[in-house]
Amino acid sequence: MDRSLQIPPRWKDLDLTALGERILLLGATDSGKSTFAWYLVHRLLEAGLRPAYLDCDIGQSTLGLPTTMNLAVPAEALRTAEEGTPFPPQPGASFFVGSITPRGHMLPLLVGCQRLLERAWELGARSVVVDTTGLIDPAQGGLALKQWKVELIRPNTVIALVKGRELESILWPLRLAGSPRVVELPVSPEARPRDRAERIARRQRLLNRYFQGAGLLSFPLGRLPIFDLYRAAAGRLVGLLDARGFAVALGVVEKLDRETGTLWLRTPLQDASHVASLRIGACWLQQGNAHPVSPTRPQPYHPGHRG
Ligand SMILES: Nc1ncnc2c1ncn2[C@@H]1O[C@H](COP(=O)(O)OP(=O)(O)O)[C@@H](O)[C@H]1O
Ligand SMILES: [Mg+2]
Repeated sequence: MDRSLQIPPRWKDLDLTALGERILLLGATDSGKSTFAWYLVHRLLEAGLRPAYLDCDIGQSTLGLPTTMNLAVPAEALRTAEEGTPFPPQPGASFFVGSITPRGHMLPLLVGCQRLLERAWELGARSVVVDTTGLIDPAQGGLALKQWKVELIRPNTVIALVKGRELESILWPLRLAGSPRVVELPVSPEARPRDRAERIARRQRLLNRYFQGAGLLSFPLGRLPIFDLYRAAAGRLVGLLDARGFAVALGVVEKLDRETGTLWLRTPLQDASHVASLRIGACWLQQGNAHPVSPTRPQPYHPGHRG
């Protein structure tokens, strides 16, 4: 953990045994959610509560790569993306969303969250700390996303990093409901906003490192299911998924050759024998930076179509 970390007394005073097994963190962008999550996971680990860390932030991933949600079941996998978490985290799992923003991608975000949560229990976790994106603005769907995430995962405790009244529309019904328990912590004065350029640069670093030395793999159309094939065009980010739908690797579309019916991907994965399906993402990878694109109008395309 960062040595400059400021640990307020309220953090130290948390009664770990009262948190329950599902702990959901809420807060605006740069409110210190991931910093707190990391602190909490270490505390739970020390207490022998075998925590899992579920990172749902597809834009500024703590574990894994941008465009994916990632699960690590510590202690074995307690490394941040910056420290070079293996991808997918081991032991753990990764879910490909294919976007760096939840806007327009809330279904895969919620489905992935649930799938990774189930995986955490399978891997023997006794508690799961769920870190989230900073999308809280009701006008942008943030309220709906957080409300339905609470409904889906039914946390025992919601820990909110609070500044002013920005989380009120999410928190006040929860307080009234009495369940989940809501713990409100003030945003640390040390929490530092990152500007847009810094966010882009961080994504670029992580993706560049991942794709360094990547080679080409070919996938004959019609052999594997390829979801959202209509998006396939050079530069698109792609999830290479195992039989359970978890990401085993990421790739970038090099070429969709409609004449030979072959999809060429650039990927660091060398052996595609465990790849059961592909999912074409909504982002372009340009010089290592995942760019969001507006949704492409679906143009039905399958191997039977030519041209
Ligand atoms: N308690 C803290 N002590 C020191 N630095 C902090 C603290 N909380 C947040 N920060 C810093 O603020 C920035 C944003 O924090 P982060 O945890 O990434 O926020 P979020 O996950 O909510 O976007 C990071 O650079 C982090 O190191
Ligand atoms: Mg974060």
